[in-house]
Amino acid sequence: MQSDTIRSVVLLGSTGSIGTQSLDVIARNPGRFRVAALAAGGGRVDLLARQAAEFRPDAVAVADPSAVPALREALAARGVTARVLAGPEGVAEAAAWPSDTVLNGITGALGLTSTLAALEAGRVLALANKESLIIGGPLVKRLAKPGQLLPVDSEHAALAQCLWAAGPTGPDASAVRRLIVTASGGPFRGRSRAELTDVTPEQALAHPTWSMGPVITVNSATLVNKGLEVIEAHLLFDIGFDRITVVVHPQSVVHSMVEFVDGSVIAQASPPDMRLPIALALGWPDRVAGAAPTVDWTRSSTWTFDPLDDEAFPAVALARQVGSAGGTAPAVYNAANEVCVEAFLAGRLPFLGIVDTVAAVVSEHTVTRADSVEEVLDADGWARARARELTATA
Ligand SMILES: NC(=O)c1ccc[n+]([C@@H]2O[C@H](COP(=O)([O-])OP(=O)(O)OC[C@H]3O[C@@H](n4cnc5c(N)ncnc54)[C@H](OP(=O)(O)O)[C@@H]3O)[C@@H](O)[C@H]2O)c1
Repeated sequence: MQSDTIRSVVLLGSTGSIGTQSLDVIARNPGRFRVAALAAGGGRVDLLARQAAEFRPDAVAVADPSAVPALREALAARGVTARVLAGPEGVAEAAAWPSDTVLNGITGALGLTSTLAALEAGRVLALANKESLIIGGPLVKRLAKPGQLLPVDSEHAALAQCLWAAGPTGPDASAVRRLIVTASGGPFRGRSRAELTDVTPEQALAHPTWSMGPVITVNSATLVNKGLEVIEAHLLFDIGFDRITVVVHPQSVVHSMVEFVDGSVIAQASPPDMRLPIALALGWPDRVAGAAPTVDWTRSSTWTFDPLDDEAFPAVALARQVGSAGGTAPAVYNAANEVCVEAFLAGRLPFLGIVDTVAAVVSEHTVTRADSVEEVLDADGWARARARELTATA
């Protein structure tokens, strides 16, 4: 049965790809959701002010304090009286702002503070910012109560639905043989390692099936995103890495599958559109009618599944390695990758140099425990510094 109360939502990263699609879901369902607070980096103040004028939140936060004067001016011009919160502390305050659900659509490791703030404040956390779970695994898991953490990644929303659909008593881990995470394969699917030598940022940013922010788009081209998702699946569903398989499915319609011990496989299918997993996380456990288009069953279509080429795309195998090592290893993998993606987009690092450099940084790291924010941030900082040294000489 569907709840008849309006759910208040804090939206972090509102000006990004996930943020704008979340606002689209909210705008089309005024009887289900309202916006309690918005937060963004500060790079698109005008868009943020327009969003505030449309959704009338109680508070608006920007991470960059130097964006505050322009934001205040843009809000005043639109008659918006929301409280303005500034700096990373302001974003964390927005994360803990009174609400039912916080959707974290910030990109990268800097989303960790907000993830922790939302969980500590007892909010339901709809998590698009997978990086915060991956780097802060033990910390985030210790804080999250059952049902408090909901995935927004389409693959993990699919896995949650497959587990949910498994039987009348709901998910039963002992009935699961393995999780099958699908990957589009990105724009360079089918290429050998040698054929990846000269690919450009423009080519890497042209994803065949998904329209996303620049970092996750490059991560999809290197398959680092799939590596992060394998770690995310392990942390969310407590399934060992040897029971998580990645298959390449270029059509991006089957978003993931669960194989059960009796040999049955349940898959979740829908056209590639993030508004479906966003709506599911915002409305969970209720569905939001018409959240996204459905598969057109009147037209002929073909779905294909291929094994991953680990030689051309070693990022997933490397992610399994750091995920199994645990502790600070996933934070190092992620931080080194964020530096390398920036260097690649700036034309300072070849495409193959991204994962090669991440592997080099990971191999030099001595894994320690990651039980506190300081331990995670120390490892993150070390990996960034080392990746910068290596990319400066690449
Ligand atoms: N896009 C997708 O389809 C998709 C799918 C699955 C998972 N995800 C995950 O969702 C997250 C967001 O991805 P995206 O593609 O939406 O990224 P994006 O388009 O680059 O948007 C990032 C958002 O974060 C904001 N931001 C940057 N720094 C911030 C800070 N310090 N504090 C608060 N907000 C900050 C940006 O604000 P400004 O505009 O001011 O810079 C922007 O609103 C990532 O973790 C990604 O892996 C995305």
